[in-house]
Parts: sequence; structure tokens; C-alpha cells
Amino acid sequence: MRINGTPYRTIWQDADGMVRIIDQRWLPHELRIVTLRERSEFATAIRDMWVRGAPLIGATAAWGMAVQMAQDPSDRSLDETWEVLHETRPTAINLRWALDEMRRVLGPLPPSARAAAAAARARGICDEDVEINRRIGQHGLAIIREISARKGGAPVNILTHCNAGWLATVDWGTATSPIYHADAEGIAVHVFVDETRPRNQGAQLTAWELMSHGISHDLIVDNAGGHLMQHGEVDLVIVGTDRTTARGDVCNKIGTYLKALAARANGVPFYVALPSPTIDWRVRDGLREIPIEERGAAEVTTVQGRAADGAIITVQISPDGTAARNPAFDVTPAELVTGLVTERGLCPATEEDLAAMFPDLKAAAQDAGAGRSGRSASPQV
Ligand code: MRU
Repeated sequence: MRINGTPYRTIWQDADGMVRIIDQRWLPHELRIVTLRERSEFATAIRDMWVRGAPLIGATAAWGMAVQMAQDPSDRSLDETWEVLHETRPTAINLRWALDEMRRVLGPLPPSARAAAAAARARGICDEDVEINRRIGQHGLAIIREISARKGGAPVNILTHCNAGWLATVDWGTATSPIYHADAEGIAVHVFVDETRPRNQGAQLTAWELMSHGISHDLIVDNAGGHLMQHGEVDLVIVGTDRTTARGDVCNKIGTYLKALAARANGVPFYVALPSPTIDWRVRDGLREIPIEERGAAEVTTVQGRAADGAIITVQISPDGTAARNPAFDVTPAELVTGLVTERGLCPATEEDLAAMFPDLKAAAQDAGAGRSGRSASPQV
């Protein structure tokens, strides 16, 4: 995607061999590019959300492994790096998927061959992510196109939550990819952007993305979606996911579940953009089996923004000492999901349909669970 006309990915290896990211903590007010040189810096970047979004977390972990392999390609270093990076954020399964994939490729190699192979695989994971998201965009476009035709070309009103945009992936985004594809095709779209407290990824990131691409949008408070749906102002909800279970339960940013309930109550289709590395084939019951990240209370009791003098500041919004809970994700049961938009096409959110769409990936995951590491759980794109 472009920023002021310059194409960017969210993570890349420059000609000097260094891995760089967009540090998302300062958007939309400042574009800061940061070089990550050590495993510990990759871990910090994921944990402290310099990068975030399930696919980008996975891509960053892959590059963290690659950078570490260039410094110490031993077996011990490989195992330790898997652990260090894996413990950074618990919910997005792409993190584990990418680390497992790196270990599957690197484990059988002699240490002397690991640095080059790790960089190649990290590059591959990033390129595959871009291609997956491009395809999700094409499949999701069909939904938007159909609604647009039904409305006689009037704008298709789409509500999205958090940032499942290009900043959450290597490029394109998942939930936003169909929107970018529709816009490129000349279909009129309008996006309602949930601000997404507590960290405001919608207000800070999605709104900035859409603004940069000239896509019509309104920022709304998280509580407005139900009202807009009751009044027929939303044609479609599309959200991303951090982990979707084998039976189609969708874990995503806190507040997604409430949007799904409102969508169901008002007959609004609720779609989830789902790249295959975000499927956790090992779990079925999303409510009971997915670990939900609890982040610090300060994210709830404060907000970050730009002051009149241009400084980016954090201000307290609650009384001194207020206790706060901060679960970062929730689970939307499969029955509330109209459909999953995957890189292979649209899919009902059921165990049978997911297995039929991805028989190879399910088999690979079962192999891995049984201790057989041969097959790649990586999508063929
Ligand atoms: O806490 P975050 O910002 O990492 O959460 C991001 C989300 O919940 C996204 O919706 C999800 O990762 C899908 S991104 C394509």
C-alpha cells in the first residue's frame, strides 16, 4: 500500500540486509520506521505492539527467528527463540504457526545452512501473506459487488472493527482487502470504523489507512454499531480474526462478539476475513480453548492522542486508582458468522466446510500433532 505515493509493506528486509518495520505506536500522527536487530527487539516489538495484527505478528516472529539464526544457528538457539517469541502474545495463532513453520524448515538442516534458509522462509511467509490477502480481497469483492448491484450502485455501507487492514498484515489487510478491491473496481463503498477502545486501532490505524486511500468512511464510537444496524445503515460487517477454531468459532478484538450479536438481531451479514494460517486446527471450542490476552489496566484508564502543540501525549480519563479489566479479545461462536472469506473462497463457518476447503492443511496439522513433521502446514499460494 502507498503512503504519500510511496509503496510500503509493514515489515521488510532492506538492501542493507536489515529488517525494518513501521512502528505503529505513533500512527496516525507520525510515521516512524524502526530497525530490529536482535531477537529481544523483535520480542519487544510484538509484545508492546509496535507491530500488531495476527498475520503481521507471525511475519515479525519469522523475521525474528531469521535474524537470530544469522547470529547463532545452534539447536539451542532455535528452541530458545521459538520460546522467547512465542510467549510475547498469547491469542493470535499466526505467531505459533509462523514459529512452527520456521522450526519445521530449519530443524532438519545443519546449523551452517540455517541462516540463509531462515531468511528465505521469512521472506516467503511475507510474500505468501500478501498473496493470501490479495485473494481474500478478490473473494470478498464478490460479496460487495452483489450488494452494490442489489442497491443499484448506491454506496455499500460496511462496518469493520479494530484494524484488520494492511497495517495488521504484510500488505492489503484481510477485512479491508475486499474494500480496497471494490474501490479499485469503482464500486461505491462507505466504511463505518469502530474506534476500538482501549487502544483505538480503528481510530488510529483503520481511519488513517482509509483516509490515505481516499475511501469514504466515518469513525464511530464502539457503541454506535447496533444503533446504525437497527436503522438499516449497515449492509455488511467484515472483521478480521486472531484465531479461528476448526469448527469456525472466531476469536478477534474485544467487542467483535457484540457486533456479531447486533448483526444477527438486525439481519446484517457478518463475514470474517480468514487467512488459513489463522485457523487453529487443534482447537474446536473457541470459548473454552483459546487463551484470551489480558493487557494492562493503563490501556483502559488512559488514552493516547496528539495535543494542540503537536506532541503525542497520554492522558488519564478515570479517577486515580480506578481498577480496570482489559481482556483484549473475545470469541464469536460460529453460528453467528454468516461466512468466512478465505484465500480459497467463501466458506460457511462449520467444521465440515473448513475441512473441505483446507483438507491439506488440516492433514498437515494432524501430522504435526502426532509428531510427524514432514508436511508443510503452509498454504500453497
Ligand atoms: O491487538 P491487535 O491490534 O493485535 O488485534 C488485532 C485484531 O484483533 C485484528 O482484527 C486481527 O489480528 C486480524 S488482523 C488481519
